Amino acid sequence: MRGRNIGPAVLTAALATVAQPAVAADAVRAPFGKLADGTAIEKVTLTNDNGMSVTTMALGASVQSLSVPDRDGKRADVVLGYDTPAEYLADPQYFGATVGRFANRIDRGRFPLDGKQYQLEINDGPNSLHGGKQGFDKRVWEVASVESGPTASVTYRYVSADGEGGYPGTVTATATYSLGRDNALHVTYRATTDAPTIVNMSNHSYWNLAGATSDTGSMDDLLTIDASAFTPVSGTLIPTGEIRPVAGTPFDFRKPTRIGARVRDGSSEQLRYGHGYDHNFVIDGDAGTMRRMARVEDSGSGRVMEVWSAAPGLQFYSGNFLDGTTLGKGQHIYREGDALVFEPQLFPDAPNHPDFPSARLDPGETYTNSMIFKFSVADD
Ligand code: BGC
Repeated sequence: MRGRNIGPAVLTAALATVAQPAVAADAVRAPFGKLADGTAIEKVTLTNDNGMSVTTMALGASVQSLSVPDRDGKRADVVLGYDTPAEYLADPQYFGATVGRFANRIDRGRFPLDGKQYQLEINDGPNSLHGGKQGFDKRVWEVASVESGPTASVTYRYVSADGEGGYPGTVTATATYSLGRDNALHVTYRATTDAPTIVNMSNHSYWNLAGATSDTGSMDDLLTIDASAFTPVSGTLIPTGEIRPVAGTPFDFRKPTRIGARVRDGSSEQLRYGHGYDHNFVIDGDAGTMRRMARVEDSGSGRVMEVWSAAPGLQFYSGNFLDGTTLGKGQHIYREGDALVFEPQLFPDAPNHPDFPSARLDPGETYTNSMIFKFSVADD
């Protein structure tokens, strides 16, 4: 029976071929509803052959859903969000969005550049937050490229006009999301300008590793932040300029610590100001080098997420302003502490602090901020 006697080596090779398809990750384009004025919003879903998928969309170049397995292989969507574009437009929470032109706050919306004072839109108490009233999160981005392959990816592109929100210079921004076989979402923001300006872009996904529609919030998650210092803020959440060691404070997450263990510590003025954690951590190691910034573990599901980036800082926001009035996907009520936001970025209000890493972008340069959200399950 020549030819039917398949030896183990041949069989292994044949199985390996089956297990390693040329396309490990797919990118699929589809409609995601329309705005009131009829503008169609597209979504792009990246799916790998390892149980992970992420849906991004052109409104705000946002992460709309992201599913990963728990320790039993059960998948759940772990990001907060909405079912329709209209809800995202009305959203004061920046669910999943690309935030910019300047992520986080600028003191009273003012900053100096080349001897001139600029005034940005005020949209957060006395300050400018996440680009102003119509930041990058509220813009419809162009779907610039979509690719399947060993790595699936989508790039969104937005041209921000000179003077938009008060910012100088025409900025061309891109947001690229990519997913390969390992369960890691890579996000890269890039920007160029035709005149000197400031840029600080980040991702504003709210993570609930128990599942976005579960009845479990995130305060029992074990959090590690690889930072020996943070930037304390004033009562309006603007950095004072101090770089303060975390040692001996509720901001010390250098060893895995339950978030809820200290989030109600009213003896901390900083926690009172933020209504919890809403602070920039100065990440250890060299900015400019990809390094781990944070690790979160949800003991119930076993899901673990690590955040990596080359940015100098990480804003950790414990979802303090989710007050039960927001109805998310599937009409689920989001409440305080339900989810966690990790924003690798330059320090808040950097343009007003010459000692902080600079947010300046000049013509001929390319601003880049890359980050990775890596998913796995805990060993035990
Ligand atoms: C800020 C919070 C703010 C939130 C808006 C975060 O990046 O740090 O203070 O409330 O964005 O959803």
